[in-house]
Amino acid sequence: MKFDTPATTNPIDQLKVIGKPTDRIDGPFKVTGTAPYAYERNDVAPDPAYGFVLGAGIGKGRIAGMDTAAAKAAPGVIVVLTALDIPKLGLGKMNFAALFGGPVVQHYHQAIAVVVAESFEQARAAAALIRVDYDRQQGRFDLAAAAGSAPLVGGDSGEGSGAPPVDKVGDFEGAFAAASVKLDATYTTPDESHAMMEPHATTASWDGNKLTLWTSNQMIAWGKDSIAKIFGIPAENVRLDSPYIGGGFGGKLFVRADAVLAALGSRVARRPVKLALTRPMIINNTTHRPATIQRIRIGATPDGSITAIAHESTSGNLPGGKPETAVSQTKLLYAGANRMTAMRLAELDLPEGNAMRAPGEAPGLMALEIAMDEMAEKLGLDPVAFRVLNDTQVDPEKPGRSFSHRDLVGCLRLGAERFGWDKRNPRPRQVRDGRWLVGMGVSAGFRNNLLTKSGARVRLGRDGRVTVETDMTDIGTGSYTIIGQTAVEMMGVPLDRIVVRLGDSDFPASAGSGGQWGANNSTSGVYAACVKLRDAVAEKLGFDAADAIFADGEVRSGDQSAPLAQAARAGDLVAEDAIEYGNLAKTHQQSTFAAHFVEVAVDSATAETRVRRMLAVCAAGRILNPKSARSQVIGAMTMGVGGALMEELAVDKRHGFFVNHDLATYEVPVHADIPHQDVIFMDETDPMSSPMKAKGVGELGLCGVGAAIANAITNATGIRVRDYPITLDKLLEHMPDTV
Ligand code: MOS
Repeated sequence: MKFDTPATTNPIDQLKVIGKPTDRIDGPFKVTGTAPYAYERNDVAPDPAYGFVLGAGIGKGRIAGMDTAAAKAAPGVIVVLTALDIPKLGLGKMNFAALFGGPVVQHYHQAIAVVVAESFEQARAAAALIRVDYDRQQGRFDLAAAAGSAPLVGGDSGEGSGAPPVDKVGDFEGAFAAASVKLDATYTTPDESHAMMEPHATTASWDGNKLTLWTSNQMIAWGKDSIAKIFGIPAENVRLDSPYIGGGFGGKLFVRADAVLAALGSRVARRPVKLALTRPMIINNTTHRPATIQRIRIGATPDGSITAIAHESTSGNLPGGKPETAVSQTKLLYAGANRMTAMRLAELDLPEGNAMRAPGEAPGLMALEIAMDEMAEKLGLDPVAFRVLNDTQVDPEKPGRSFSHRDLVGCLRLGAERFGWDKRNPRPRQVRDGRWLVGMGVSAGFRNNLLTKSGARVRLGRDGRVTVETDMTDIGTGSYTIIGQTAVEMMGVPLDRIVVRLGDSDFPASAGSGGQWGANNSTSGVYAACVKLRDAVAEKLGFDAADAIFADGEVRSGDQSAPLAQAARAGDLVAEDAIEYGNLAKTHQQSTFAAHFVEVAVDSATAETRVRRMLAVCAAGRILNPKSARSQVIGAMTMGVGGALMEELAVDKRHGFFVNHDLATYEVPVHADIPHQDVIFMDETDPMSSPMKAKGVGELGLCGVGAAIANAITNATGIRVRDYPITLDKLLEHMPDTV
């Protein structure tokens, strides 16, 4: 189905189940331990052997020699394999460091050997017996040191955020020089880790030249193609199955070493092999969100209209890697006739930087939205009013192009009212609660809405059940449920008559889970397939498809009606289709908007920050399921607290690795860190986005949270920290002497 004109009224608008807070249909499987995850697929791959990865012990250099004799002789060992033993493998999509390294070592903990043994413990013990001699080389591990000579580079995150090397509209330099109120400030964000619950894990099995990977991956079709490329085999010989995924956040957009080495190990061992990256391996072996150094300049008239805005971001990556596209939202978020954005990319030899939840906007807004707070302060304007004043209903770089739907102002105003923003004292350090200094902060949230082809197959069985099959994944987001709800709305049968099957590359290729595009695109693909199935049903029953009503397990047309199941009496009816998009995303800018409000308390003695209240107001088109959407947003807000206050991969600049490579030292928020969270969804639809009239929301919930917390800390303490995370050591020496 081609979607190239705005949606009109369709069966989804009945809103019998779409838009309702339906419980997760996968919930019972998860809480009873019956949802199969990649490392537990003994049901389909019996008697597996265990793989264990050895990671490189240097940040850059060459392997001079490897002695695997002791490992091979160790108890239970079946195979010991190094990259020196096999022909060079290809690179998968978006990989730019080999997933099986050697003799060249491109980064610390790059996989250089895999041991397959009868048990996990035997594999791990044997891996420790591998002796590696390295020729160590001097690597580049310091972003700040490399930033000065980093070249300009354009790029995109591969999932929704991007910018050219330099983008200019009007005369930024002239307008900034002439502005009566201006800000020129630099902000830094650290390297961050996805820290998903389920580690990267794969069970692999070969049947002749056909490979099956039960794996944990967000993008099944990308993964299938990547595995084919890496091994140089036809894609039709590769199957990926990923029905349940314990979180990804972008860390599982692309296949990683677990998939490659489980497949290699299984090929040599001639039996199924399961392999999980251990937690201490994940942080340096896989990908991370790259650190940024961001300079922002804003100039305004005395009454607060922005006349000049510039955002420059420098990040680092391995040779061939991409920049963190932290300037992308600045191209679209606020008005202003004179604009400039630029990105620089330093070559570093740290592990591979890549997409992490809302790549671009998440770190970009952490900087931009502090800058907006600083400007409001200079102008003597309320931070909400300043943002409202500089709203734009058109793409500020191309004023002839409007947003499909944009209600940032509505989010800010409603949020201010619900949060009690009028009780905020604009003067910092004025509000106390015992030993605590209390403050409020606000930020805008912004994330683009991406349209991408998505397919599905639906089958009506003789028993009246409808089965939906698509390679769409559920990474903890609720895909099963919203896809089921879509089929209910379209086919007029209750949810318990719908079977949703996901994550198998034998099913039609979907949008997958990334860039907050999963919900809107995958349900639209299911919508398209259901339209076809409705046509087939009507034809079988001899009804006119155009006026047929599917409800209560029946099909009605004029004064005729028949049970839906009757259409499948002679055999299953199957329909397959995909949603494919025309030009609407080009003619109109499609984005999602939020306002984040936060109240913090900062301990006047220790400078410890505690978040007290959070509110997100989101404008993201139709909300398909307010319960699962809320869960996405509160999870994202929690991640925002981590980004603001805790998360930082500490770089060892001599040896080139992230030191805190476990969850004891890479801190993320726990329940005790998270206070009352409220989420409000604006009641809106976006007919330009799809027949579902929905947009993404899972990443929007993160975008801006960090800055709202930073701004609240400033309101509480009077201290402006421009270097994340805002740990107490950065506040302590500036704290008012009030104990
Ligand atoms: Mo992503 S960074 O999985 O949208």
